[in-house]
Amino acid sequence: MKISQVCCIGAGYVGGPTMAVIAHECPDIFVYVVDDDKEKIKAWNSQNLNDLPIYEPGLKKIIKKTRNKNLIFSTDTDKAILDSQIIFLAVNTPTKLKGQGKGFAADLTNIENCAKRIARISKSNKIVVEKSTLPVRTAEKIKEVLKSKNKKIKFEVLSNPEFLAEGTAIEDLYKSDRVLIGGENSPSGKEAIEKLVNIYKRWIPEKKILRTNVWSSELSKLASNAMLAQRISSINSLSALCEQTGASISELSKAVGLDKRIGSEFLSTSVGFGGSCFQKDILNLVYLCKVYGLKEVAEFWHQVVKINDYQKKRFTKQILKTFGNSVVGIEILILGWAYKKNTNDSRESASIYVSTDLLEKGAILSIYDPMVKKERIKLDLKMVLEKRKNDKPQVKKNTQ
Ligand code: NAI
Repeated sequence: MKISQVCCIGAGYVGGPTMAVIAHECPDIFVYVVDDDKEKIKAWNSQNLNDLPIYEPGLKKIIKKTRNKNLIFSTDTDKAILDSQIIFLAVNTPTKLKGQGKGFAADLTNIENCAKRIARISKSNKIVVEKSTLPVRTAEKIKEVLKSKNKKIKFEVLSNPEFLAEGTAIEDLYKSDRVLIGGENSPSGKEAIEKLVNIYKRWIPEKKILRTNVWSSELSKLASNAMLAQRISSINSLSALCEQTGASISELSKAVGLDKRIGSEFLSTSVGFGGSCFQKDILNLVYLCKVYGLKEVAEFWHQVVKINDYQKKRFTKQILKTFGNSVVGIEILILGWAYKKNTNDSRESASIYVSTDLLEKGAILSIYDPMVKKERIKLDLKMVLEKRKNDKPQVKKNTQ
């Protein structure tokens, strides 16, 4: 099977940048990025590159070079599936809001729908690649769906989790610490792995490409995110102790980080981690541990999320204390709405939690973020704003 076309289902923070880089590095391969969200695809195709649906440093330059040459953004998912030899799945996998595992397990509806669609549409053999972060053993379920719905076609399922961080996505994609490709230990499984290796090899040194079994690859992604989030919660928990004892958290971070066994990354204290991944992935890990009867392990990781919630609440409490325990009518300026710099993503941003808390307690907020649109901020605060609908204006403006 010669790889002349690949497609990616899901044109979000992972699908968009990842496929743009593949298109840029593989000019002989057609790369289709498809999504059910028409508005998002329209934004990816907008003439003005400032209107792309996501902001990432360096992304506009690559899009300018590749879009409508060998990089196509489209809503025609069926055609993209039909014509591609490799299909990447980069759809969102949020925490389940109902049913078994509610509040912890990853909701795999989008993944299941993709698998059903691929099975229904495919007329030739396909390699299906999990890019989304998924619980360990999901590949098995995807394969089951594919096989049961289409008996004529041979499907190989690979796990190739994405380690990019928003805000540095393009740099991360070019200078990945490692690329993990998990596949079945069968001749066709190994062949599929090599097809994907051949794509990454164009710009990633081969020693950084790890071939593993599917389960290790799936679990490595959850484990990496859990370890990173754990460092943030560790330093944040110590910031509370510093405030009580007169120690300085920045001096502590520096002193601890200089120990080369620990290292300095992910040791800056903050109002708490945000973003769509850390909390969701740790909760998913907690759920997995519970399913396998590992209660203590589940509790250990759950504490990482609990400390994060504590840190966000602690921050609002400090503000309240400063104003004699009441912020009614107090005007407060919030600078920064995205969950971190260099992204327009506000999912799970600490700003949402802090602002909601402050609005509930009667404060008047002015909010500014150069990357996040006013409509997004209003949506993020929808519930609390509705509750206070009859009061005086609460969110004054975003100066954008
Ligand atoms: P996103 O929400 O930005 O994008 C997902 C896209 O998939 C959406 O545009 C949605 O419309 C589309 N979609 C969902 N179901 C679909 C379907 N059946 N057919 C067509 N399109 C469909 O999500 P994001 O942030 O790109 O994350 C995707 C996955 O990658 C998640 O599993 C996430 O955990 C993982 N991940 C995210 C990273 C991040 O920094 N955002 C980093 C590494 C992994």
